Amino acid sequence: MITELTRVKLEVPTPLRCDVFWADARTLSEITGGISAIITSPPYPNEKDYTRTTRVESIIIGLLRDRPSLRLVKESLLRSNTRNIFVEDSDADEVKEFRSIQSVCTQIEQRRLELNKDSGFERLYHRVVAHYFGGMRRHLRALRPKLRNGARLAYVVGDQLSFLMVPVRTAQLLAEVAESEGYKTIGCELWRERVGTKVRNSPTNEKTVRVREEILLLRKN
Ligand SMILES: C[S@@+](CC[C@H](N)C(=O)[O-])C[C@H]1O[C@@H](n2cnc3c(N)ncnc32)[C@H](O)[C@@H]1O
Repeated sequence: MITELTRVKLEVPTPLRCDVFWADARTLSEITGGISAIITSPPYPNEKDYTRTTRVESIIIGLLRDRPSLRLVKESLLRSNTRNIFVEDSDADEVKEFRSIQSVCTQIEQRRLELNKDSGFERLYHRVVAHYFGGMRRHLRALRPKLRNGARLAYVVGDQLSFLMVPVRTAQLLAEVAESEGYKTIGCELWRERVGTKVRNSPTNEKTVRVREEILLLRKN
């Protein structure tokens, strides 16, 4: 990243202004309006704890000092893994009326019962998915008034099988949520395919799976 930034500094003759904001994407409280385009790679419901991947840096720059400060950071993130679900979370309430999302959540919980999986984390799997799409709905709602008419958006998201091999078609479900918040889906392109080789709990005993990572293209209606 440092090399890339140095290259940009050297190769762009008149650098454009670039502002960095620190805000929860579900509220976007610090972000001003007039936005024409969004390109982003949000979390997906995939059991990845994003505070882990940057734990050392976060400690070095003083963002994390102790458990309460870690909890504050986790609370400001979209719910996308069982390590950042808290009892008082309510993002899931935002997607109660989406049959497609509720059906995925029910399938995950049923599969857990079939497999007799009983850990605290496994019990949360279906909640993660509901909170995730609810959080993304809040994000899209908070963003809309800050967008210019006709603004275009690109979201890179991956399908998932992390929750007991129940397919979560992230881009497809996100498109449904976006349409309910005043966006039009203008495309969904394959970005890459990942191959999973350590498959467990497959109902059809597959050992290898291919999962799609897609770019969901939206326009403000
Ligand atoms: C799939 S990763 C993308 C990483 C990014 N493309 C990069 O190269 O650093 C998703 C990122 O979204 C961040 N994130 C999660 N919840 C967020 C929220 N509510 N507001 C803003 N960012 C969030 C995570 O910390 C993580 O860095």
